[in-house]
This record gives sequence, structure tokens and C-alpha cells, in this order.
Amino acid sequence: MNLWTGRFKKELSTITNDFNSSIHFDQRMYREDITGSIAHVTMLGKCGIIKESEAQKICLELENILSDLNSGKLLIDTTKEDIHSFIEFELTNRLGDTGKRLHTARSRNDQVALDIKLYLRNQVDEIIALVKKLVSTICNIAKDHTSSVMPGYTHLQRAQPITFAHHLMAYAEMFLRDLSRLSDAKKRLNENPLGAGALAGTTYNIDRTLTSELLGFFCATNNSLDSVSDRDYCLELSSDLSIIAVHLSRFCEEIIMWCSWEFKFIELDDAFSTGSSIMPQKKNPDIAELVRGKSARVIGNTMTLFTMMKALPLAYNKDMQEDKEAVFDTIDTVKMCLISFEPMLATIKVLPDNMRKAAANGFINATDCADYLVKKGLPFRDAYKAVGALVALCSDSGLTLETLPIDKYKSVCADFDDDVYDAISLEKCVNDRKSFGGPAPENVKSQIERVLLAISEGEV
Ligand code: ARG
Repeated sequence: MNLWTGRFKKELSTITNDFNSSIHFDQRMYREDITGSIAHVTMLGKCGIIKESEAQKICLELENILSDLNSGKLLIDTTKEDIHSFIEFELTNRLGDTGKRLHTARSRNDQVALDIKLYLRNQVDEIIALVKKLVSTICNIAKDHTSSVMPGYTHLQRAQPITFAHHLMAYAEMFLRDLSRLSDAKKRLNENPLGAGALAGTTYNIDRTLTSELLGFFCATNNSLDSVSDRDYCLELSSDLSIIAVHLSRFCEEIIMWCSWEFKFIELDDAFSTGSSIMPQKKNPDIAELVRGKSARVIGNTMTLFTMMKALPLAYNKDMQEDKEAVFDTIDTVKMCLISFEPMLATIKVLPDNMRKAAANGFINATDCADYLVKKGLPFRDAYKAVGALVALCSDSGLTLETLPIDKYKSVCADFDDDVYDAISLEKCVNDRKSFGGPAPENVKSQIERVLLAISEGEV
């Protein structure tokens, strides 16, 4: 039996029923649906649209339904069309005619928009907490490695010296931007669509400011048609979460490389890696690979949402029911990824000696060597050319800039002196990169402090 009987002469075909139904996935919004209904019915009572006494009865019974659902005493009947229908049926079963007054001055169109917004608002808070935890883990590891020299890469070729802390803190900045995007998205989630009705508001003298206050919204949405047609908040949150998924995926890709034998910059804890059924020596970074893999479905869900919305006329269309599976899956996936990734990262064993060895073998101080000549008065382009010749010389003779004898240096450019070895020492190369945002240890230490302060003071 559906909510919308009356004008229909035939029973609904089971095929239509199954295809139309959303209860299998929207039942997770039962708390939000009941919370919304309680606010709605409280307002109906206060505005004299239904009797106060009946409003109170409905509120009380909705509370009972909520606690019965929470305790498992009441099971959701999945033959109902959606969670909104189920709760209204249950209320009417329990209260008779009084229950039938709940849906006065409301439509499932504003109801579903409200439920999704309430649900997403709670979920965003959970995700913000998870991202903050990850950022603080990153900072904690970084604190111990502000002097651990490693190669910085471009094109995955050794480029210039940085530290492990500097590298990690790049990710902290990405996640800070994610936090700022999430709190911005919350502003728009905090506008209340309840009271928009099916699309054209209502002739009842409802009080949308009151329901907004009761539900903790900043304000009521401005236009009833937009309120029920809008799914920007799903697109926006899904996009924001896709960016988080991309950040996690890039981090995972690096972790996978770093724990390969070719790099061996880190080792994963046994508790967060897996073995092979055939190769006894294997220790695989499955969590990192799965997080990288799962970013694909998160991005896919964003595409689903945009494509679903792009040609819909105003106002509600049933296509919009497709929003929930996509956005719910994205939320579940991103939460699961954050929950698994953080302890994996927190327990890595860092191998700074291997990082340093890698940094010492790839001419990553070539820019510093050119800068040495520039400081002696040579134009940068000439210095660049001279060091290029030195690198060629080293490559031919199996040497590095550190081991190349001074007479070879001088053969390329007379300005070279013995102090060049000090100028190109990896520690000096890193320590002197003091420009704001650069890898010098004192820079990164203050970056870590700034980031920790930002997440603890709720600035983001
Ligand atoms: N289950 C529907 C959804 O998720 C609720 C809205 C139904 N509205 C309607 N006009 N059929 O979108």
C-alpha cells in the first residue's frame, strides 16, 4: 500500500514497485526523517495549523518510533516505498487519524531535501574530525623528520633536496584545504528547505523560521522551487570528497613506491600490510592500494551526480532519487579510506638513511652548485651550463658532485674553489632553503606549529 492511493484504480505492478522503491538505501536517514518530522509537527502545533495536543502526541510517538528503531524493537518494512512513507505508516498505525495529520503543509519533495541535508551535515562533521586526525598524525611524524634529507622529485626524477617532513607537510596543506572546503560546504547545507512543499510553498500560515531554529539551520531557503530542485549540496560535497580521495590516492601512490625495494624509504607495520599466498617474502601495501583504487569510485559517483542533474527541468524529478546511492557510497568510502589510512600512516617505520643515500646519488645538489657560482658573480645561465658540463663529466666517470676532484671542477670553471664541497653538502642545501615555504628545518617546524594550531582552534 502506497501513500498516494486515491486516484488509482489498479494495484501497482510489483515491477514498478521494486523499481520505484528507495527504502533499501534511504532507510539510513530514518533519524533525520524523524527529527525533521518532529520539527515540522511542532511548528504545525505552534502555528495552530493542527491542535497543540495532537502535535504533542505525534512528537511523542515519533520519539517512540525513533527509540524502537534504534533498539531494534521495530524493523524497517522494506515493502514500503521509502523511509518517509514507512515512518508515516508506522505513526498512523500507532495513532490512527492523529498520525494522518503529520503530512499537513509538507511534501515528500521538501522532506527528502531536508533529510539529505541533515544527514550530510552530520556526516561532514564526522569527516572533518577524521581529516583533522590525519593531519595531526602527519604533523607528528613530520616533527621527527625535519632534518631527514630526501630527494625531492619532478617527473619522478631526483630534482632538489628536501626533507621527509617537508614532503609530508605538503599533504598536510592539501588536507587543510580539504577541511576549509568542507566547512564552506556546510554553510550551504545549513539552509532549511522544509516548508517549500511540493514546489510552490503552501497556503497554510507556516513558520519556516521556527523549523529552521528547531533544526539548527542558519535560515530558510529563499525560493520554494529551487529548494526542492536543488542538489548542489550533493554535487558540492561529492566534489569536495573526490578531491580528498585524490589527495589520499596520491599519498598512497607515494607510500607504495616508498616501501618498494627500489626505494625502501619506509616500511609498513605488519598490522597494516598483507602477505602473498605463494611468495613467502612478500609484504604488500594493500591498504594503500585499496585507498588508491577506491578513489576511482568516489570520482565516478561525482560524475553520476553531475550527469544525473545536468538536464533536469525544475522542480522535483524522480531521477533525483539517484542522488542518494552515489553520495552515500562516497561518504562511506571516504570515511573507510580515512579510517584505514590514518593508522597505517601512524605506524610506518621511516628509514632516513635510505632516503639520504638516494639523495646523495642523483645530482640533486646541481642547482646549489650553480647557485655557488652565481654567488661568485657568474650569471645564472652560465653557471647552469658549467654545472651541466660537470654532471656530464661525473656521469662519464661514475662520480658524483661530492666525489669529483677540484681540478675537474676548475677545468670547467676557474671560479670553483675547495669551499664548493661545503656549498653542495646536502645538509647545507636543505638548511639554506629558508625562503618562506621552503624545506629548511626551522621553516618546516613553524609550518607544523601553524598547522597544528589551525586544526586545534577550529580555524578550518
Ligand atoms: N524517495 C524519493 C526520493 O528519494 C522521495 C521523494 C518522492 N517524491 C515524489 N514526488 N515522488 O527522491
